[in-house]
Amino acid sequence: MPALACVDTTPIVVDTFSSNDCGIYSQFWSPSLSASLYRIDAWGAPYFTTNTSGNISVRPHGSYTLPNQDIDLLNVVKHVTDPKSTGGLGLGLGLGLPLIVRFPDVLKNRLESLQSSFDFAIQTQGYDSHYQGVYPVKCNQDRYIIEDIVEFGSSFRFGLEAGSKPEILLAMSCLCKGNLEAFLVCNGFKDAEYVSLALLGRKLELNTVIVLEQEDELDLVVDLSKKMNIKPVIGLRAKLRTKHSGHFGSTSGEKGKFGLTTVQIVRVVKKLREKGMLDCLQLLHFHIGSQIPSTALLSDGVAEAAQLYCELVRLGACMGVIDIGGGLGIDYDGSKSGESDLSVAYSLEEYAAAVVASVRFVCDQKSVKHPVICSESGRAIVSHHSVLIFEAVSAGKQHETPTDIQFLLEGYSEEARGDYENLYGAAMRGDRDSCLIYVDQLKQRCVEGFKEGSLSIEQLAGVDGLCESVIKAIGASDPVLTYNVNLSVFTSIPDFWGIDQLFPIVPIHRLDQRPMARGILSDLTCDSDGKINKFIGGESSLPLHELDTNGCSNGRYYLGMFLGGAYEEALGGVHNLFGGPSVVRVLQSDGPHGFEVTRAVMGQSSADVLRAMQHEPELMFQTLQHRAEELSKAQRNNKVSAEKLAASCLARSFNNMPYLSMETSTNALTAAINNLGVYYRDEAPCDGGKDEKWAYFGGVLKET
Ligand SMILES: Cc1ncc(COP(=O)(O)O)c(C=O)c1O
Repeated sequence: MPALACVDTTPIVVDTFSSNDCGIYSQFWSPSLSASLYRIDAWGAPYFTTNTSGNISVRPHGSYTLPNQDIDLLNVVKHVTDPKSTGGLGLGLGLGLPLIVRFPDVLKNRLESLQSSFDFAIQTQGYDSHYQGVYPVKCNQDRYIIEDIVEFGSSFRFGLEAGSKPEILLAMSCLCKGNLEAFLVCNGFKDAEYVSLALLGRKLELNTVIVLEQEDELDLVVDLSKKMNIKPVIGLRAKLRTKHSGHFGSTSGEKGKFGLTTVQIVRVVKKLREKGMLDCLQLLHFHIGSQIPSTALLSDGVAEAAQLYCELVRLGACMGVIDIGGGLGIDYDGSKSGESDLSVAYSLEEYAAAVVASVRFVCDQKSVKHPVICSESGRAIVSHHSVLIFEAVSAGKQHETPTDIQFLLEGYSEEARGDYENLYGAAMRGDRDSCLIYVDQLKQRCVEGFKEGSLSIEQLAGVDGLCESVIKAIGASDPVLTYNVNLSVFTSIPDFWGIDQLFPIVPIHRLDQRPMARGILSDLTCDSDGKINKFIGGESSLPLHELDTNGCSNGRYYLGMFLGGAYEEALGGVHNLFGGPSVVRVLQSDGPHGFEVTRAVMGQSSADVLRAMQHEPELMFQTLQHRAEELSKAQRNNKVSAEKLAASCLARSFNNMPYLSMETSTNALTAAINNLGVYYRDEAPCDGGKDEKWAYFGGVLKET
């Protein structure tokens, strides 16, 4: 019997760059080739680029960033994750991954770019009013993002939009520190409590506008404003006929979830007139849908709304503002095509120009005074400034080719031996198609043999290895590897799971090396949906580097998910009890590192996520420790008592993030045994390294 194992199973060599030496790769590849492979310039400009070290650089001020102001993303990650890092910043935070790195400078640049695009359109088109936007807080309610937006936008009266009671509470308190002319647009379903809060906002001299999303909200507003003796400013949301055909279009058109039909609008006007409150109606709002694909659709919708606006003026309302909602899109795949929800076919400037032109045209036609233009752009403001960093921790390995063919053949049935011989013959002839047929047959036959009990597990494993080597030798193996990533898709990229939203994902380093593999990303959850197997550009796998255990970056392989600053954080859940990532805020600075970390928060600990599910980590800890104490009494001669061991293990596990810890477990355990202190989660204002501290204490699970 010929032994198939002597078929040449040398791996097919894709090209000659298979050395682990970083220098060799560099000769044949360059960061700019990586930039075009991952389309970084297309979706990332002007904020993300590659640098000569082969890392991603962040350009914090967009196109105004000076050459020495670029921030090397890998440097940031190393600084905030290394517990021993003291250089310059003196941080030593040792934050766990996954990690969100926020760049407030980028946020500021986005906000200012939006404002200046409208200012430019208004000036060049001779528009006779101004632009005054609001940020819809639902896109990301993070305290520091909202506070930044209020501060950065204060000089141009930038405001906030809220859609629920906690959102209006946070918006009201933040706007107290902002420009009092800034709008607080109150959208969403409303009850008496919500309306009272919005009215209270006016009492506090905040510029709150109650936007009627449903007709019956009017009665609440009329009644409560009388009771509270506060004159409301009312807006109404119109259900436009203009419809956006993409995923986000279900919000628009006659069957949209929100807004008033023309019949309802006429009834609202009539009622307000009867109540002597028509002067309270001042704003018209509409929202075509997120990711409006083209300026043609935008102009169509804005023109329809502008006609409605003019009609409300004609009917006697004291109109002053047209609020065009959200929808200013992001070019997630860099295609600038507008042909899918992943891209839009316009720039900020073109968006603003189209809005201003449409409103102006209709108002001029009807001789109506130009209104203030408000927009509720969400994703366009916050998407770019947050980058999610996570790590690939392992990649799928090939089966081993069996060497003892005789051992394999012993368990084969007659038929299986026949398949084996046929496979051998086909492989020798180089007959690829027949090889694939016999591989299938042989595998199937051997699985049957295993089920009947005639084949051992080692023999079955040997068959799998053998078939894999044949497939590889004939060049038919699946080149796509599975990279296991220290992440939960459900927590950090819920829109990928929920609505097939794609985000650019790119290694943040090694971009001076040719990526030699292709991979899909498999997350930590015990859920078959917890994987990323679709990527921008219509790809079903991502070019990736081989995991490098002893080469560059100490064997770590960091990936970045970009443009994910909107929606993902609030939508993410705790599936499998994986909680939220660590978060740092990084400002460009002229100091030696080029950046400073101004805030750092460790991600949710296991105790935090347990608490979110009504468990009581303190009681759990006591129960387990009590058990350890009892056992410890019975085993007095142990070197490390069960009690001490339990306390340290438990403390570590309750207080650490639930993700994989990339420290070696024995080191971590030894450290824990030697010292029962634990780091605990705390907000750490770092002030350039002077005031940072992670609380460190001997007891466990104490609240601060
Ligand atoms: C009423 C309203 N305004 C604003 C937004 C924000 O939209 P975008 O993030 O597309 O700017 C939304 C999002 O769905 C919305 O429903």
